[in-house]
Amino acid sequence: MLCVEISKERNTIPVAEIASFCRISWVYDDVVLCEGSAEVLRRLAYSKRVDELLFACRIDELFGSMPEMEYDDFSVRVFNAGADKGRMERSIGSMIRGSVRLEDPRNEFRVFIEGDAVLFCRSLFTIRERFDDRRATRRPFFSPTSLHPRLARAMINLSGAEREVFDPFCGTGGILIEGALMGLRVHGSDIQQRMIDGCRENMDFFGLEGYSLECSDVCDLDAEGLEAIVSDMPYGKSSYTGREPLKQLYSRSFTKLCDMLKPGGRAVVCTNNLRLLMQPDTELSLVGLHSLYVNKSMRRWIGVFTKT
Ligand SMILES: C[S@@+](CC[C@H](N)C(=O)[O-])C[C@H]1O[C@@H](n2cnc3c(N)ncnc32)[C@H](O)[C@@H]1O
Repeated sequence: MLCVEISKERNTIPVAEIASFCRISWVYDDVVLCEGSAEVLRRLAYSKRVDELLFACRIDELFGSMPEMEYDDFSVRVFNAGADKGRMERSIGSMIRGSVRLEDPRNEFRVFIEGDAVLFCRSLFTIRERFDDRRATRRPFFSPTSLHPRLARAMINLSGAEREVFDPFCGTGGILIEGALMGLRVHGSDIQQRMIDGCRENMDFFGLEGYSLECSDVCDLDAEGLEAIVSDMPYGKSSYTGREPLKQLYSRSFTKLCDMLKPGGRAVVCTNNLRLLMQPDTELSLVGLHSLYVNKSMRRWIGVFTKT
């Protein structure tokens, strides 16, 4: 069993990201217990650390039920114990045979007090992605409509993509950059040639290779049998739509997204207008919906669709 420490976002994305790859057993505040491969969780955007759950018990049973443990190089950290933190860390440490090392230990035990339950874990790895180094203003080709790289990565995770990602509204390439850095094959298209040129400049700036880009209206694309489509669609405020009404653009785009996916494939679409995500006339089923507060006048909506 794995114990994932998620970031303290007040939204549903961190847990949904994990659910794309693992079977979730329990969620409590910022801790998620799940079954699955730990390695795949290195790609999570809104999580901080992945631990292995060694055992769980009631808090009043902790000291009576600790198994015999021997580690030659370890530290203990207790979370959510309030003023008892230091005392508990010393008491638990004294029950483990071996030598304590507080700086950079080979084995870090992380003990979470969650209500009257204790989760006794050993740290596997920390997730350290320098998303801010890739935010829109740090790229050579910049547009104010770009998503933050952390959200771009989370959207790819919500698609469950394991091999490839296609973004038919790629703009400056925020989603494609994250996909390529995750080791996925990425393809992008956009109706504006200047976006395709700028997107290529950004991809090259990060030394990314093996991607493909084309200038096209979404409905003129030839793609089919795709595993995952992930897109930040035009919002109509500062995004270009060629003066096409958004309702019409979304309606024809959703039909096309569905045609391009393989059965069971997923489309993850971000927009600022919930109504535009609700497209009843396609074979796409909405299997997840998330929202993110941006500012007083804008909220982003992220729909996760699967082709039935
Ligand atoms: C919100 S922006 C994408 C932002 C992008 N995620 C980024 O990181 O820059 C939407 C993009 O959709 C493109 N677009 C608008 N109408 C389109 C259409 N009919 N077909 C394809 N692309 C279109 C615009 O040119 C714009 O670059």
